[in-house]
Amino acid sequence: MAKIKKIYICSNCGENSPKWAGKCTSCGEWDTFQEEIIAKNDTREQKKKVYRAPNSTKKAIGPIILPDIKAGNTQRIISQDEELNRVLGGGIVQGSIILVGGQPGIGKSTLLLQLAIHLPLRILYVSGEESEEQIKMRADRIDHPKSECYILTETGVDKILNHADKLEPDLIIIDSIQTLASPFIESAPGSISQVRECANEMQRYAKETGIPVFLIGHINKDGAIAGPKLLEHLVDVVLQFEGDRNYAYRILRTIKNRFGSTNELGIYQMQANGLKEVPNPSEILLSQYEEILSGSSIAATLEGLRPMLIETQALVSTAVYGTPQRSATGFDLRRLSMLLAVLEKRCGIHFGANDVFLNIVGGIKSDDPALDLAIVAALISSLEDIAIPSRMCFAGEVGLSGEIRAVNRVEKRVQEADRLGFEQIFISKYNTKGINFSQYDIQVNQIGKVDELFEALFQ
Ligand code: TYD
Ligand code: MG
Repeated sequence: MAKIKKIYICSNCGENSPKWAGKCTSCGEWDTFQEEIIAKNDTREQKKKVYRAPNSTKKAIGPIILPDIKAGNTQRIISQDEELNRVLGGGIVQGSIILVGGQPGIGKSTLLLQLAIHLPLRILYVSGEESEEQIKMRADRIDHPKSECYILTETGVDKILNHADKLEPDLIIIDSIQTLASPFIESAPGSISQVRECANEMQRYAKETGIPVFLIGHINKDGAIAGPKLLEHLVDVVLQFEGDRNYAYRILRTIKNRFGSTNELGIYQMQANGLKEVPNPSEILLSQYEEILSGSSIAATLEGLRPMLIETQALVSTAVYGTPQRSATGFDLRRLSMLLAVLEKRCGIHFGANDVFLNIVGGIKSDDPALDLAIVAALISSLEDIAIPSRMCFAGEVGLSGEIRAVNRVEKRVQEADRLGFEQIFISKYNTKGINFSQYDIQVNQIGKVDELFEALFQ
């Protein structure tokens, strides 16, 4: 008989303790300890009976001197999805384990089912959330399956691995890690010890067989993948799928990548027939209006390594109630307050009695400091009710003394603005070392202070 034991596990970092505590001693988070029941006979011996080491080629050998270790084994599966390849650093590495996180309904299942349908390989798609019929319906919506995509609706990790052993797929997709359960853990699926154990088993399997595994993970209310630290340590790549559900754009961001850069980013558009790649995001994100309106300006931002021109809109109106409102969508509210304070103090432009609303068009969220200058321009434009010329854009960080600071990779931003037919860009005068702007048609205006922007635009 298995002896039942209760322990408390921190849902943030996985620390366990025999007693409940208000604060985790390991990560310092409050109220994260959850009670879990574990079976005492959870021995490796027993596991071995169930989890057969599949065609393991690795022998137990001693330490190997570094020069003798053969390089290679970074063979990659190149998918049809260019955005995914880019985010993964050039394709899916054999034997890697990739966690895809995102809020419910954002399109995680769609993204990976689409990958499974389009890859001309044998894929095992395991779903613990949907029935075969539901998956079939979704697949028909995206495209008619051509590949060898096997669907398994199962949640027992031991059974899944047995099926995988028989099928010998080239890729496994698990939708989602929170639905998996190991027979050796008593607690419910989705609990920390279950998630950790199942992810461990999948990782072991991936490493032993060389079959890459995608794990879909739900994220909790704070925006972190449930049991974040423990899963992030375990997997090779962490991707985050984000976007506003009310808009069609979705961004696939790399949080961690053992085989490539974490600066990469993929952009998709959710359509009636699945997710479509967006190779030129700037062209879609810019407002479609021909008419020039006040309060709207274009920022030359960089998302990851990709230049992207996005539109910012500000509305400054007289406050009706006592305390003026400040609201920002897609931008940090505190940073907006800071920009308002800079305008107030350094340029004598008063927003004190006004409501200020700021919006980044397209449901995009950005924390690129280069947005500052475009936002300042949009704020003044709305306050003065003077429109900014339509073929003009901005890239500069605003400092506390009202100085315009340099931003990274300014040449890429200028290049993108030039490619899209912009006529003028405002950048910091400290941002020009070693760059020859004369090769571009766009006029590059270099400014040092916010007042200079004010003069250039509105006087
Ligand atoms: P889903 O992939 O189930 O999200 P997740 O697995 O992250 O919870 O689907 C998300 C939404 O996408 C759902 O509301 C329906 C919509 N959708 C489309 O708009 N077009 C499509 O082709 C598909 C398959 C889904
Ligand atoms: Mg899903």
